[in-house]
Amino acid sequence: MKDGFSREIDYLRISLTDKCNLRCGYCMPKEGITHLRHEDILTLEETGRIAAIMSKLGVRRVRLTGGEPLVRKGVAGFIRMLINECGISKVSMTSNGCLLDEHAKSLREAGLPEINISLDTLNRDTFYYLTGKDELDRVLKGIDTALKTGFHVKLNTVLLKGINDEEAEALVKYADGLGVVIRFIELMPLGCGRLYEGVSSASLIKRLETVYGKAYKTDRTDDDNKGPAEYYDFEKLGIGTGFISPMSHMFCKSCSRVRLTAEGFLKLCLQYPDGVDLRDPLRSGMSDGEIKEIIEKAVLKKPECHSFSVNENNTDRRKMVEIGG
Ligand code: 5AD
Ligand code: SF4
Repeated sequence: MKDGFSREIDYLRISLTDKCNLRCGYCMPKEGITHLRHEDILTLEETGRIAAIMSKLGVRRVRLTGGEPLVRKGVAGFIRMLINECGISKVSMTSNGCLLDEHAKSLREAGLPEINISLDTLNRDTFYYLTGKDELDRVLKGIDTALKTGFHVKLNTVLLKGINDEEAEALVKYADGLGVVIRFIELMPLGCGRLYEGVSSASLIKRLETVYGKAYKTDRTDDDNKGPAEYYDFEKLGIGTGFISPMSHMFCKSCSRVRLTAEGFLKLCLQYPDGVDLRDPLRSGMSDGEIKEIIEKAVLKKPECHSFSVNENNTDRRKMVEIGG
């Protein structure tokens, strides 16, 4: 399925819940958010139906997000459904890792091959400061278990000036020791992200070069060339390091994704509120064909690019925890 700028849309991110077991300050307000009511959240069957319709429209890859996707009951079964019944050949997940130790095995058995785990710090106090929870050990255990269970793991890190930016070297070392790729994501001024100051990829690469030697850009990419990460090899590291730079290197030209929120809103771009509600069409008894048309029409309206650095007034009021990153 093509959008209005001839971009092929083949990637759907599904937020399974707006709940999270952490409270990262840049992602959700300290006091939490008003959660969706149970009946306003799509059932897994409804979500699967949308995935199946979208797979007929050319969506090949689905990433499960949240909130924290593993807070939702029945995720392993849902993954099975996506693969076996909805025609989605590639399923992945982004998790904060807290519940991975207990769920890794069943997720792997369900057919999930890979997980991106968010890890912003290796310091217990900083973890508590950032997330409001004393869960670092559980996350590290989750990473360990995921690796032992055979998952292909990537780590995702957001650096915040004055909070965890000094830890970049240690995080890279930790990932290198595990033989796992770490990717640094530039903070986006979305929701609570506006309250913090991020670190640009260019300045981070310079900083890492002083410890790990010269960095060479590689042509490695994620997801058949469509992922936004750029990879660099540092002289003294065994494994490449990824940099995702939505702010300094806008990658919207090659964007292939749309998002489905837990309440069934098809969101066209991370920044803007534009999109279309699919829950009412689902619940009002529309046919697959009718829903397909609604999706196709909406996707044609996908905005050309974000404008975070120019104009934040038109930014969606949804918090990141309600979108899933
Ligand atoms: N900018 C960049 N990344 C963010 N995430 C959450 N909020 C932001 C933001 N404002 C990331 C989390 C996690 C993923 C779900 O989204 O760190 O890795
Ligand atoms: Fe933190 Fe992710 Fe939860 Fe947001 S959704 S509070 S980034 S763990």
